[in-house]
Amino acid sequence: MTHDMLTAAVAAVRARLGEVRPRIGVVTGSGLGGIADAIARARHVPYGDIPGFPVARVAGHEGRLAVGELGGRTVACLCGRSHLYEGLEMPRLRLPLRTLRGLGCEAVVLVSTVGSINPDIAAGRLMAVRDHINLTGVNPLTGPNAAAVGPRFPSLVDAYDPRLRRVAQRAAARLGLPLAEGVMAHHPGPSFETPAEIRAYRLLGGDVVGMSMAVETVIARHCGLDVLGIAAVTNMGAGMSASGPSHEETLAGAAALKDDVGRLLRATLEDWDHAT
Ligand code: HPA
Repeated sequence: MTHDMLTAAVAAVRARLGEVRPRIGVVTGSGLGGIADAIARARHVPYGDIPGFPVARVAGHEGRLAVGELGGRTVACLCGRSHLYEGLEMPRLRLPLRTLRGLGCEAVVLVSTVGSINPDIAAGRLMAVRDHINLTGVNPLTGPNAAAVGPRFPSLVDAYDPRLRRVAQRAAARLGLPLAEGVMAHHPGPSFETPAEIRAYRLLGGDVVGMSMAVETVIARHCGLDVLGIAAVTNMGAGMSASGPSHEETLAGAAALKDDVGRLLRATLEDWDHAT
């Protein structure tokens, strides 16, 4: 059963961590897994060693949990994520974030590459996510509810924690790094959007489009994790630039943004407990 799967995953990771107790989770996507290289005294647990964990198979997505120190906090970084479009059963899709919670994390920083659908947010920028629109037609909590994990009908008001967003904004200002704010439209993928879909998502109120964050935020909020969403704009949406989008463009954009994301993440963690 689902809950046994979670207990087994948490126990397997704990056995590898000894006394280390992560407090903040991080999830990184395409080409951004290198952020975890900055984690000090890291212990690594390959996903294949954690029972039930989906093993990421998309090129550019690693598959390991890295636990150690970053920005003065003990973090647990999921380097590599699974996506709805991989067709996993929901309990397995939900497992990695629930494992972070089970390990004692109180919050998670979701980092995702995205395409911009707002002409004012150029490729190469970072954006703090204020809210999302789940366009996948699927809710990751579909199925029996594990009452021990979270409520049947979780609220998604302020799903992206306003205080954490202010902390990130202050950290960005300290670094002199512009940080936009806006709404994430979650496209199901794996095909990129059509130009008509991009125009439609813009009309609906989206600023960027991605394929992971809304689903992860629903899972995270359900199990009680506070969420900070950081979107790394690797490209303009379909029809908004002469080329692309393509996975290659996304990976190249991620490589160019990796250092900025790493600096912002570290500075945000340093400021994490500041009242704002
Ligand atoms: N669309 C969806 N997801 C993405 C994109 C995009 O243009 N770029 C990076 N992730």
